[in-house]
Amino acid sequence: MPINFLALETSCDETSVAVFNDRLVVLANVVSSQEQWHSRFQGVVPEIAARAHMELLGLAMEKALTQAKLQLSDIGAIAVHYGPGLAGCLLVGLSAAKALALALGVPLIAVNHVHSHLFAARMTAAKEVFPAVGLVVSGGHTLLFDCESPTKMIRLGGTIDDAAGEAFDKIASLLGLGFPGGPAVEKEARGGDPRAFKFPRSFAHESRLDFSFSGLKTAVRYTLAGPGEETPLPPEPGKLRADIAASFQLAVIDILVLKCLQAVEKMGRKKLIAGGGVLANRELRSRLESAAREKGIELFLPTSSLCTDNAAMAALAVEYWKAGEFSPLDLEIQPTVF
Ligand code: KG4
Ligand code: ZN
Repeated sequence: MPINFLALETSCDETSVAVFNDRLVVLANVVSSQEQWHSRFQGVVPEIAARAHMELLGLAMEKALTQAKLQLSDIGAIAVHYGPGLAGCLLVGLSAAKALALALGVPLIAVNHVHSHLFAARMTAAKEVFPAVGLVVSGGHTLLFDCESPTKMIRLGGTIDDAAGEAFDKIASLLGLGFPGGPAVEKEARGGDPRAFKFPRSFAHESRLDFSFSGLKTAVRYTLAGPGEETPLPPEPGKLRADIAASFQLAVIDILVLKCLQAVEKMGRKKLIAGGGVLANRELRSRLESAAREKGIELFLPTSSLCTDNAAMAALAVEYWKAGEFSPLDLEIQPTVF
């Protein structure tokens, strides 16, 4: 009989509950978006997100169990992301997970949200994806890892300021495209010329495996209004707006692809995996695919629904469960990258 896992994800602004088994078969992956709670603030408000998780989590759990055609008594382990993420949000998920594990008398397995983003690549792959270099690009993170195995991921570098997704969201706001910005900028970029503006690609000529997107954001701002001028008004829909979106998107993608190739070469790996919300960007996916093909690297990307925050990717917990590594019930949240 397979062991069924119930998994909770509450690290940021998606309230998600999944049910999967130890054979990595996903029986339900419910994601309750909090978009309408945050959109008028053009970003995620941590306190609102934590309160929304409290309201949405119980319902999402009921829905996930119904979809999986299971009851709580059929659950053999509880998985949860205990960090990195927003402290108040993580507390909601971890506290609920502990209570469930205690009440059901089953193991608690807490896993790293960022590592789960990379494990998502294995969940839909037809063959083994490890060892590999891993890229995580989301609203909160832009990180490169050397992944010897699902439970042995070593950080190679990351952003020194904004995350790539955060840059998409900020540029969307400057361009008046709304929130969340990633999909809106991608759509706008389709009608623009990506060579119209030459925006900066930080660290492109250095071997360090780090990223910086704040200069890029400033360059876009100065395209709309000079230094010292008031905060610019968003441009009217049309060529300028589409060209800025396309040129910005190309700058982000160029640097993400370049750093992946540098990391693969440095670590002597033959495989590349990637995850996180920004991987929902079709242009990024296709550029990674063509770069990997050209360099003879095997590339594994999760399906789009496993790229953005979700609880099914916490199936990484199955690896720890197989190794008999469970979490203590007094485990604390870990909000910063670890
Ligand atoms: O992984 P995720 O759901 O949440 C975090 O852990 O942050 O990623 C959300 C981020 C947001 O910044 C969003 O704008 C970005 O992913 N994103 C995209 C696209 N879809 C979502 N960025 C670029 N293009 C997209 N199509
Ligand atoms: Zn995430």
